[in-house]
Amino acid sequence: MSSAVALPVATASSHPGYFLLRRLQSLTGILFGLYLCVHLLVNATLIQGRNPDVFQAQVNKIHDLPFLLMIEMSLIFAPIVVHALFGIYIMTNGRPNVGSYPHIKNWFYLLQRVSAVALLAFIFFHVGGMYGWFGEWLTFDKDRAFDSTVRHVQANPFLYLIVYPLGVIAGTFHLANGFWTAAIAWGLTVSKEAQNRWGWVCLGLFLFTTACGFTALVATFIHKKAAFAAVAGAQ
Ligand code: HEM
Repeated sequence: MSSAVALPVATASSHPGYFLLRRLQSLTGILFGLYLCVHLLVNATLIQGRNPDVFQAQVNKIHDLPFLLMIEMSLIFAPIVVHALFGIYIMTNGRPNVGSYPHIKNWFYLLQRVSAVALLAFIFFHVGGMYGWFGEWLTFDKDRAFDSTVRHVQANPFLYLIVYPLGVIAGTFHLANGFWTAAIAWGLTVSKEAQNRWGWVCLGLFLFTTACGFTALVATFIHKKAAFAAVAGAQ
């Protein structure tokens, strides 16, 4: 990262384990980012409707994987917990430098932190809701994947107008900007030209993943009536 982008975490960075922890935070961010791309792509299949139910077919493929719990724990759950915990540590020890360097990269630096805080709340609600912590209406049912997902998102206007649109944008921005900074951290984009080229790829990734997220959101509007009727019929 160029010196104009971020201020170093002065006191903490002198700690011997700090470099390794920072690399671990970067690696776990990349791992979870790759998972997020797949997750949003699978969700976008909601737009294909329920006849045939392509979304249910994707969910079945995932749930048919051997060692699913182990895969979920090691490749999804552990990375995001490590990433978020160390992310909180970084945020509470760094400070935004938008005022000192009024440059777009500095705004991205600040937005990376703003989106991180939004994601903490969003991921807690999203995972908790899907696992049934907030009542049956928000719970995901893997055998009725399509209807329960539509029911979850369309449960309340606050969810489909505010929480999910903002949650998707926070996730896709943080993912794309994170991939951009990670390439610098790992020494893959050293020159300004390389950073610019990779910036275009990350912009493409942002647009594509955001389009996937919003495609899924639009699908919940299109199929709301049928999904609610199916859920009511099953009760
Ligand atoms: C959708 C979920 C998330 C994904 C895909 C993700 C991914 C990433 C990636 C790839 C990076 C770049 C790492 C680097 O520059 O080497 C990053 C940075 C960061 N993430 Fe996340 N992250 C997510 C959620 C969170 C959450 C919940 C927090 C909560 C604290 C967080 C805090 C941070 C912080 C503070 C940075 C900046 C680190 C720095 O400036 O060096 N992230 N994230």
